[in-house]
Amino acid sequence: MEKWSGKTAIVTGASAGIGDAIVRELVKYGINVVALARRMERLETLKDQLKDEPGKVIPIKCDVSDKASIDAAFEEIEKEVGTVQILVNNAGICFMQQMFGDDDEKTDEIISSTINTNFLGLVRVARKGYKLMKKSDDYGIIINIGSIAGHNASMEYFVNVYSGTKFAVRAVTESMRQELNKLKDTKVRVCEISPGGVQTEIGGDTIFTAEMKAILEAGEYPILKSSDVAQTVLFMLMTPYNVNITEMIVKPVGESM
Ligand SMILES: NC(=O)c1ccc[n+]([C@@H]2O[C@H](COP(=O)([O-])OP(=O)(O)OC[C@H]3O[C@@H](n4cnc5c(N)ncnc54)[C@H](OP(=O)(O)O)[C@@H]3O)[C@@H](O)[C@H]2O)c1
Repeated sequence: MEKWSGKTAIVTGASAGIGDAIVRELVKYGINVVALARRMERLETLKDQLKDEPGKVIPIKCDVSDKASIDAAFEEIEKEVGTVQILVNNAGICFMQQMFGDDDEKTDEIISSTINTNFLGLVRVARKGYKLMKKSDDYGIIINIGSIAGHNASMEYFVNVYSGTKFAVRAVTESMRQELNKLKDTKVRVCEISPGGVQTEIGGDTIFTAEMKAILEAGEYPILKSSDVAQTVLFMLMTPYNVNITEMIVKPVGESM
């Protein structure tokens, strides 16, 4: 990890769950982290909690489902840090909601915000992040967080378009990699991590219902911690610059999905 010390990372969705855990790991290695999310108060708390670590946290507000918000955030990032070397495209949402049934507006909103956040937002942030990487002649890496739901749509819940967005994340990650090959860019790697179930705040009560929480508390269901996924990000970073782990599936032992 020494090679990344003093470098700059951007982590989206840094205010909770997996993103928060990734920031906590990166700063330990002297990496300065631009932490993006909508809830600034959470990012400020994270910055405060990590103030004694070798790397610093730079909180910046960004709604990745909104192009204008991404544009404004990246203007600020460029002003604050100039260039970046690591981008972890992690922000994502998932609501347990049927697609069929009522032709209601709420479902339509969930469909568009899931696509805009998990897919369109990820692509737009990757485009902006790559541009900042190329401002220096340094090595760079883009890590897109997908999901096991991007490998297997047949889940036992109503995952709405979530699975579709995560299949799309895998596809576009490979398209990005191929495009960089065509551009003969041998300095920036693109890869994807597909976690299995992770106990976070995702979906709120629609996923972690009282019943599910009781099952988890009783240790009756295998599930990862956010810090487990953060370790896999470190693993990606530890590989030499010429090694591209293009895709990694991370499951808790015993997971059936
Ligand atoms: N938990 C799992 O079982 C699991 C499994 C596989 C993959 N994943 C993936 O892991 C990633 C992180 O999820 P998590 O489980 O850590 O969920 P989480 O605890 O709910 O955290 C989600 C993060 O994404 C941010 N976010 C959501 N919408 C955003 C938006 N429009 N703009 C900016 N930030 C936004 C949230 O910040 P704000 O609300 O403050 O903006 C929050 O920081 C997601 O891509 C998810 O699909 C999760």
